Amino acid sequence: MDTVYSSNSSTTPSSLLFLPLPLIANLKVVIIGAGYVGAPSAAIIAIKCPSVSVTVFDIDRSRIDAWNSDSLPIYEPGLDDLIRQCKKQGNLRFSNNESVVALADLIIVCVQTPTKRFGVGAGHASDLKNIELAARMISRVCASTGGRPRHRIVVEKSTVPVKTAQTLKIVLNPSTAPGNRRPSLSGLSTSSSPSSSSSTSITAVNTFSVISSPEFLAEGTAVADLEKPSRVLIGGDDTIAGRESVRTLAALYAEWVPLEKIITTNLWSSELSKLVANAFLAQRISSINSVSALCEASGADVNEVARAVGTDIRVGPHFLKSSVGFGGSCFKKDILNLVYLFRSYNLHEPALYWESVVKINEWQETRFSHSIVSRLFNTITGKKLAMLGFAFKADTGDCRESAAAAVANSLLQERARLHVFDPKADAAHMFEELETSHQISQSTTPGLNDLFVVETDVYACCLNAHAVIVTTEWPMFKKLDWARIYAGCIKPAFVFDGRNILDHSNLSQIGFSVHAIGKNLAVEAAMHAHAAAVSAVAERASPQGSPLKKGSVGVGGGGGGGGGKDSDDADFKSLNEAVARVLDTTTVELPLPPPSI
Ligand SMILES: NC(=O)c1ccc[n+]([C@@H]2O[C@H](COP(=O)([O-])OP(=O)(O)OC[C@H]3O[C@@H](n4cnc5c(N)ncnc54)[C@H](O)[C@@H]3O)[C@@H](O)[C@H]2O)c1
Repeated sequence: MDTVYSSNSSTTPSSLLFLPLPLIANLKVVIIGAGYVGAPSAAIIAIKCPSVSVTVFDIDRSRIDAWNSDSLPIYEPGLDDLIRQCKKQGNLRFSNNESVVALADLIIVCVQTPTKRFGVGAGHASDLKNIELAARMISRVCASTGGRPRHRIVVEKSTVPVKTAQTLKIVLNPSTAPGNRRPSLSGLSTSSSPSSSSSTSITAVNTFSVISSPEFLAEGTAVADLEKPSRVLIGGDDTIAGRESVRTLAALYAEWVPLEKIITTNLWSSELSKLVANAFLAQRISSINSVSALCEASGADVNEVARAVGTDIRVGPHFLKSSVGFGGSCFKKDILNLVYLFRSYNLHEPALYWESVVKINEWQETRFSHSIVSRLFNTITGKKLAMLGFAFKADTGDCRESAAAAVANSLLQERARLHVFDPKADAAHMFEELETSHQISQSTTPGLNDLFVVETDVYACCLNAHAVIVTTEWPMFKKLDWARIYAGCIKPAFVFDGRNILDHSNLSQIGFSVHAIGKNLAVEAAMHAHAAAVSAVAERASPQGSPLKKGSVGVGGGGGGGGGKDSDDADFKSLNEAVARVLDTTTVELPLPPPSI
């Protein structure tokens, strides 16, 4: 590897990268956990570092078999190709045999860390069972392989509460735990190759450095995010072993990531940064979603508000898209974990603040499903509703914590018949999510198979539906033949756009009653009609295009266009009446006057 120098020569922790980084040729990397993070991360490391061998280990045999087959267990754009290339290159493999772990110089832990469902902290704290089991397995397997004990680096890539690394260190290095004897010699080799052992690195027992490098990839763009990460964060102890471990992982990333994007810091800051990063992202969504309700009530358009707000460079345009709510396996659990941490440190006010981000999200999901029920004449029992999208976002088949599942839950409580289409999420994962997050299963909901039907054809899904509900922003939904869908729907036919992706005026023209998040489309339509009326009268009054003459035009105002002909007056009157009719049929509620101070 070429010698690389950091552009950052300050005394910040990133100055760790200023010295030539260790060589990583022939490094053996083992990734534990073949999921959404582990497998794509392994593939990127393998393809970018041909001299490094990468093995992914998972306790789930079927998952490993799927990774070894042509039908991968998860969908991510570009991942099929990438895995195929890696297999061809020959330095990536997937294994269910834990003995592979002992061969590693660098072990990256990518197991799931869901929210605890029972016991202390249930509903908020992270369940660290998988993390601890992985650490115990590493320790056991490395100890049982014979050979000379040596030093290994364990990277905490799973999202964990701050100070989890402390637990890992104790589990991995029990002899260094308080009260236990320390090993006679420990620490990393001073050699530039982490895999080579030298006389200075001989240890009486296996030793492990624990560093943190949380993952910031987003599902749906995982391959692109891994290839060009916004940053790579690495946290370690300020010890010789800690610093060298950080530098070894940095050297691996430096094979394809510019050094200025590799941030080094201490362990606790690294662990906490991941939780805070996700909390900030989710908070933006809840912020704009809270505003969406005000837009619907007042007639403002949430997209316009987001555009105006996001143009300020201090705010920025990203993550300001209003929707039915955020989902996914991370946001909710990471915020709740953060809330739990605040409470553990007796910081109750900030805990409430962050908890409200999750509450607003749940409120938005409920608000959306309630609006469906109320618009469908307050009863959806027995009605067929077509739900387009079940994955928590586009470009993934992952349904974990999806907003669609939350909406489905509400609609199923009302005994609607849901027909669901998603281009990538499969039925098994949909039912799994309904059961895991909403306790809906065959046993809790008799007849579930008739109430929740997964369709493979989007038009069949919508046929004879009272309403079409868009819950995932799949681009294909924009390109559907909506006139065909309308023709097959029960009338009046409704569209509820929970992602604000459709062409609402086109849908209205086709004949749908359209409802979108953060917009009052009835008001919008009335305003368009009003503007059209004004401009039609203006044109009649002045064919040359001069401005409308004196005499204002107002709905119900009854004023004539001053100077217009009799026929203009008649046209104007009928247009005005038409606009008034549109406005009369809307359910616009005027905003309350500001409270008196
Ligand atoms: N999914 C994301 O978008 C994302 C993004 C950033 C960070 N993260 C974090 O990364 C971690 C992993 O998330 P994921 O979505 O990849 O999870 P996942 O559920 O898709 O995969 C985890 C895998 O770990 C395996 N596993 C569990 N315990 C094991 C053990 N002891 N030994 C070997 N294998 C074991 C499971 O069988 C599973 O295949 C979580 O902490 C998550 O919060 C996820």
